[in-house]
Amino acid sequence: MKVLAIESTCDETGAAVVESKGNQATVVSEALASSAKIHQEYGGVVPEVAAREQLKVIVPVLESVLKDSGLNPEDLDAIAVAAGPGLIGSLLVGVETAKSLALAWDKPLIPVNHLVAHVFANWIKGDANPKAPEFPALALIVSGGHTDLVFLETADNWQWLGGTRDDAAGECFDKCARILGLGYPGGPALEQAALTANPQHRLELPRPLKHEETLDLSFSGLKSAVSQLVKADPSLDANLLAKEVIEAVVDSLVVKTDLALKQYPAKSLVLAGGVAANQLLRDRLGLVAKHAGVSLFLPELKYCTDNPAMIGAAAILRPRPVTPLMVSAQPTWGVI
Ligand code: KG4
Ligand code: ZN
Repeated sequence: MKVLAIESTCDETGAAVVESKGNQATVVSEALASSAKIHQEYGGVVPEVAAREQLKVIVPVLESVLKDSGLNPEDLDAIAVAAGPGLIGSLLVGVETAKSLALAWDKPLIPVNHLVAHVFANWIKGDANPKAPEFPALALIVSGGHTDLVFLETADNWQWLGGTRDDAAGECFDKCARILGLGYPGGPALEQAALTANPQHRLELPRPLKHEETLDLSFSGLKSAVSQLVKADPSLDANLLAKEVIEAVVDSLVVKTDLALKQYPAKSLVLAGGVAANQLLRDRLGLVAKHAGVSLFLPELKYCTDNPAMIGAAAILRPRPVTPLMVSAQPTWGVI
């Protein structure tokens, strides 16, 4: 099975041709355009600007990915598209383009939930993941807008176990980086700053819900704590705060993942979403997985943040075709 996949949920515009390979997916060709540089000036994504940029690049991106694949439209089995959650203006560009192509080329359309796709990034065959994760699996999804623990009985049968009660992990990184004047996106900016923090210095930041039985998380208090500390002492070392924010977020995520593995025995632990690029999180989950006796799966770095290949992988591994005129840019877990 070969699909042409489109991703345009936030500030990226991507297309990929993805093919099934056993119980995994391989990428035939991919192209990604991003308006992130423009948003840096504003300290966060400006939805109107993102959608206008997407209108400009969607066709060139599609042309490039088809050309690189060496395939013709008749070689494709379906068109896949990220149908939500995401920014509505951005979603409309991808979803309406995908509908038009499906109608014009007479192909089935596969709408894909963006978060489901982040998880299936672990099924993209490559040096990082030569084999597919085995079910049942526990997924930790950590992106800019979501933080969820999900139990995957099979590719199709998922159970949501817990998640953030307020800010997402990535959102917390973005907001803290902004308070510290470190730029956008916050995750990589904090990681960079933390490298030069004095290893002798410590500063304990809050880890709400850490010692409670719940699988829920909470990150909004961390942002407030950082804001108050900076207000009280503007000379505080931003690099040290960056290091401690990462420590606190990663600590909370790791503790709840460990608890979930105890309650829901799994064969694999899969990490998903933009925050999956964080090195400390990758390292600490390695220890948790080892201790629990499960195999850890980490997406290749370029498949952690938003990308079209994961949309294709999800469409191949969990195909749910519809007729093109039925798809709306509908968000969230309803699609799971
Ligand atoms: O999945 P993603 O690309 O977009 C959403 O679906 O939201 O995730 C973006 C989030 C941002 O909050 C960004 O700061 C965070 O992922 N992120 C990171 C790293 N790279 C991106 N967080 C921590 N460490 C990183 N290296
Ligand atoms: Zn994402």
